[in-house]
Amino acid sequence: MTASREVGFRLDPVLVGRAAAVESLDAAVATVRAGRSVAVEVCGEAGLGKTRILRELARRAADAGLLVRTGRATQYEQGVPFGLFAEMVEAADGGPDDAASSVPAAVRRMLTRTPAPGAALLLDDVHWADSASLELTEHLLGSPPPVPVLLAVAFRSACPPARLVNAIARLGPAATLIDLPPLDAASLDVLLVGVPRRRRELILRASLGNPLYIKALSRLDDDELDSLARLAHRHDPVDADRLAGSRRSVLAGLAAEITAQQPPVQRVAHIAAVVGDHTTIDLVRHVAGLPMSMVTAAVDQLGRLGLLDADGGRLRYRHPLMRAAAYAR
Ligand SMILES: Nc1ncnc2c1ncn2[C@@H]1O[C@H](COP(=O)(O)OP(=O)(O)OP(=O)(O)O)[C@@H](O)[C@H]1O
Ligand SMILES: [Mg+2]
Repeated sequence: MTASREVGFRLDPVLVGRAAAVESLDAAVATVRAGRSVAVEVCGEAGLGKTRILRELARRAADAGLLVRTGRATQYEQGVPFGLFAEMVEAADGGPDDAASSVPAAVRRMLTRTPAPGAALLLDDVHWADSASLELTEHLLGSPPPVPVLLAVAFRSACPPARLVNAIARLGPAATLIDLPPLDAASLDVLLVGVPRRRRELILRASLGNPLYIKALSRLDDDELDSLARLAHRHDPVDADRLAGSRRSVLAGLAAEITAQQPPVQRVAHIAAVVGDHTTIDLVRHVAGLPMSMVTAAVDQLGRLGLLDADGGRLRYRHPLMRAAAYAR
């Protein structure tokens, strides 16, 4: 999705509504410059801007003279040990590492050799991280190298890596927690500069303040926005049905993450969207005709994708637009 072609949507470098978060980032960078290690935890639902915040942190850390290294977990590499660190180890050693077992040593070596004022390790999408990567991250937090390190992790709040979150909590004041809220009306005024007021209001209502959806919605006309805004504040599956035809291209874009999944996951996503917010896992299993183990695995996967919440056996789409997208497929 390119922001630049969307009317009124400023280029990606613009960061709106995150003054408090940026202040926390600056404080964390200043702490490292003062010689102390610090952890930064960034969480929020899918599309709320975690990666964007990490990018901001990378820039600020580099400007302050820190060595910046980044790592990212992906859903396709959950079985690859130390996948979260692979990129930075390659960058540090100038080539692929020979054995996974040496990754912790390579990371420590890289950090120990870092000159003052220190390093920033920024780890994104940690909700997909393999267990070896999580253990190494916890270890770095618990026994940091002699060089001051800013260690930042970002993950979707619906699927927090529990042990890592606990390890960060144990750091007390040496940890900064950033829980990203949706963008508000004032932020949209800046982001959608030049867009008429009514349209800005419609985009805010339909997106529920989620920057990812704001971008997608900025391509729709007012009537389409109006019906999506109504949908966002209702729970009637008939509305989603009406949306399917005319908004197909936007919805298809949003549904791309679903169509990349295995057939049982796609099927569960579609059924949950059709049945609506009162779907139960049992009902989905019945309609899908799939074994329970397959349905629960699919529900877990849809949870990590940031699409579905499973609450006491009930399934609910986190965002009405994703439900409409899954429905329209
Ligand atoms: N505060 C903001 N101001 C302007 N644009 C933003 C802001 N936050 C996010 N964006 C834009 O919204 C889109 C989604 O943000 P981003 O990719 O950072 O979300 P995310 O939380 O990392 O999502 P995911 O959980 O899927 O990884 C990006 O194009 C990003 O540049
Ligand atoms: Mg991200």
